[in-house]
Amino acid sequence: MNRAAPEPKDNMGRPEPRVDGRLKVTGAARYGSDFVTDNPAFAFLVTSTIARGKIQRIDLDEARAVRGVVDIFTHENTGELKHLKYVRGGGGPSSSIQEFGPEISYDGQIVAMVVADTFEAAREAARKVRVAYDAQMPSATFDSAGATEEQPKQQFPHAGDADAAFDAAEVKLDVSYSTPTQHHNPIELFTTTCAWRGDELTVYEPSQFVYGLKNNLASKLGIDAARVHAVSPFVGGAFGSKSQLSPRTGLVALAAKKIGRPVKLVATRDQGFTIQTYRAETRHHIRMGADQTGRIASFIHEGWEVSSRPDPYMVAGVEDSARVYGFGAVRTAVTVVHADRNTPGFMRSPPVVPYIYALESAMDELAVKLDMDPVELRRVNDSMTDATGKPWSSRSLMKCYDAAGERFGWSKRSKEPGSMRDGDWLIGWGCASAVYPTHVGAAAARVKLFASGEAEVQIAAHELGTGAYTVIAQMAAERLGIPLSSVKIELGDSNLPPAPPAGGSNTTASACSVVMKACDAIRARIAQARGTMTQGAAETSAQSDYQDAFKRLNVGAIEEYAEFVPPGAPPDALKNLYNGKPYLGGGSHGEKLMYALGAEFVEVRVNALTREIRVPRLVGAFAAGRIMNTRTARSQMMGAMIWGVASALHEATEIDPRSARYVNTNLADYLVPVNADIRELDVILVPERDDLVNPAGVKGIGELGNVGTAAAVANAVYHATGIRVRDLPIRLEKLLSA
Ligand code: MOS
Repeated sequence: MNRAAPEPKDNMGRPEPRVDGRLKVTGAARYGSDFVTDNPAFAFLVTSTIARGKIQRIDLDEARAVRGVVDIFTHENTGELKHLKYVRGGGGPSSSIQEFGPEISYDGQIVAMVVADTFEAAREAARKVRVAYDAQMPSATFDSAGATEEQPKQQFPHAGDADAAFDAAEVKLDVSYSTPTQHHNPIELFTTTCAWRGDELTVYEPSQFVYGLKNNLASKLGIDAARVHAVSPFVGGAFGSKSQLSPRTGLVALAAKKIGRPVKLVATRDQGFTIQTYRAETRHHIRMGADQTGRIASFIHEGWEVSSRPDPYMVAGVEDSARVYGFGAVRTAVTVVHADRNTPGFMRSPPVVPYIYALESAMDELAVKLDMDPVELRRVNDSMTDATGKPWSSRSLMKCYDAAGERFGWSKRSKEPGSMRDGDWLIGWGCASAVYPTHVGAAAARVKLFASGEAEVQIAAHELGTGAYTVIAQMAAERLGIPLSSVKIELGDSNLPPAPPAGGSNTTASACSVVMKACDAIRARIAQARGTMTQGAAETSAQSDYQDAFKRLNVGAIEEYAEFVPPGAPPDALKNLYNGKPYLGGGSHGEKLMYALGAEFVEVRVNALTREIRVPRLVGAFAAGRIMNTRTARSQMMGAMIWGVASALHEATEIDPRSARYVNTNLADYLVPVNADIRELDVILVPERDDLVNPAGVKGIGELGNVGTAAAVANAVYHATGIRVRDLPIRLEKLLSA
């Protein structure tokens, strides 16, 4: 029996610098398109210029005449690619729309791919591919002619009679909000490199799920999954966009097979807006009924989300908004609106970014109606159970409010909108809650401890820039009682034991739980060899103890393969994972509500004359169980809050309603904050312990920090100006017209 290893103080792991930091800053870290330097051919995509209709004719003569062109692929010579069934939320294909014609289902759909000896020749020829279309009027978005509504069959949170409670409430709020289309725009573009050796395919592609990539690509090609090897050791940003199989991957694999040469595709920035998934626009109708003390008796949240014609993708964040407070009664609903668009997909904090923005804006509006401090309104409705009576595993929301509020100086806020001013600048202070479901998935790992005291850890988890190499190595070092520098770690390769997709902020929880299990098994074997019961990692950590055990066992290394299946998972969860079908549990789906929580406070300054909006100060406090590394965690939260400022003030993909075409498909017109937009940013990590979430006690933080920011900014803008903008992003023109 093992006693737990010594725990970090306050459940906060050491701020170790990234173990892969040197590789990254010296350019030695290899990303997907860095692989295969021996005679690759280069690919360039051609995408549709209509959103709905049919390809009549493709003329390739001019394109084929470009010197260096090897071959051109269209719907006419790619029929052997199999159509895969789309499953919402699975690790499978990103959309039902997988073919390259003749049907066109959205603007920017891939219609051809040129392969040439050089990138330049492929690009030149791509411009000479002539496609004639039979175009029809597309439906772009909500309210477009021809857009159709679908009521999903699934049950959304419901408890008590929320409508009756609303009607009977002393104080009522009835408001609507909307959020825009957003695109991930990872700095590393969408790339695929495929190389065949006989019947064996290696695919190099930035991936959040190498087992999904391997298995789904094999299905796409109609070959045995054992013949496909997916490699993705480093990913230059993903945010959900690299978690499913997108149509380009099968196309590149097929092209490489047909021309008998490796093919390398790096899609352009603007193509990345249409060949991948995105965050669709949403609408919200919220009603809240409360008594004079602020207790919320009724919460009604209805959402509308845009999706493609064939696929009912939705994020359905009512699953989370309904749980945040101890509402008396709850009714929620989600409607999917089908338009001529690509299927949307996961984008950082998919359900909660739009839905909690709406909830937390409404909380602020209710506080105004009640003439109550918005923090106090949250305190009055803080509860260890939700409206259905389901209890929280742990909940530190008000601790976060207290810590962040104190750091921010919230008690000095004067309540009246427009009452805080510095010359021409109106000052506004706002706050909002951050909430993210704690996910954990089935996973496997192999750990090898050598007599030298060095260790090797293998798991097909993913490094997206988050610090996965570092925190997983930290867990191994801690459990084996060896220095971090003695741990060698391998990730991002489908030949390693499988990990869940790097989505839903589960990687640290899942990977650390299974690595912990493998390490503990090694320690148990050492303890057995020494003929004693182990007394915890610290006491078995001395290298001499290890060497003694290795001598008795007469081996040079001890290897353990561990499997971890969280409670509630189906019995074949691990077998499914090997086959590319992940299981993720947690959040609101188990017997307890498992969530990480936080509180974000924001100061905005709005120029009284020009209505220019500035954000000089942000403070966020977050409680997420065990924090493996306070340095990488802090970086995650900073990046997330800055992204939250983008959601609040900058980010939106504009759609031409006539052509259903995205207009600002580049990083000059798709606005994100730059350094000058962010001044002071404070992150507080609030200690929390939760042994119920998973063996590692980790709640996950990757998607927590950008959840509350947009509402906090919007609430601060209201406090500065008295103007409530209910449609993101808040640009200055929305304050001029009011
Ligand atoms: Mo994240 S959007 O769950 O990859």
